[in-house]
Amino acid sequence: MLDHLTVVTHPLVQHKLTLMREKDTSTASFRQLLREISLLLAYEVTRGLPMTTKRIETPLEEMDAPMIEGKKLALVSILRAGNGLLDGILELIPAARVGFVGLYRDPETLQPVQYYCKLPEQLEDRVTIVVDPMLATGNSSAAAIDLIKSKGAKNIRFLCLLAAPEGIARMKAAHPDVPIVTASVDRLLNDHGYIVPGLGDAGDRMFGTK
Ligand code: URA
Repeated sequence: MLDHLTVVTHPLVQHKLTLMREKDTSTASFRQLLREISLLLAYEVTRGLPMTTKRIETPLEEMDAPMIEGKKLALVSILRAGNGLLDGILELIPAARVGFVGLYRDPETLQPVQYYCKLPEQLEDRVTIVVDPMLATGNSSAAAIDLIKSKGAKNIRFLCLLAAPEGIARMKAAHPDVPIVTASVDRLLNDHGYIVPGLGDAGDRMFGTK
């Protein structure tokens, strides 16, 4: 079982994250690094999945070989930046079912409002990995997980690239059953909702927008 918070300190992850943080890293390099780092993070977030065995025949003899148990995993991307993590993970888990949740922040109430939701079927029988690169206030991640739980998911993990302490606290309060895997817990969230030192706006950096 994963702890509530796992910080992936592997040298490859940390090296790639440093390159992504640098302000002069190009969109093309940022995208490539995100793809590479998401493969490594996918390896960590799938740690401890329930296993079974399958009777197979090697060229030499029969054996009971390990396999991941149960239905195909579900990956849920929180739009739009979640899609950057999704691509790399799908390279490693190509048979995963994929869902999307879109939320925006109401300018008056500052609360997340859902504008899009399309989720795989039978979430109750799948391990569901929710992906969003930046866990900032935690409001939209917590709201997305509320929604995913309301559609039946029971076994959820959350994967991000960077987390602010405020976001971790919010998630722990709202969803103590959802383990978080991240490459870094940064110092703070600033008054504009940016993670500091962070890497800026993850969506803008991966899609080349401003
Ligand atoms: N979302 C981002 O893209 N960057 C932040 O620093 C915080 C939220």
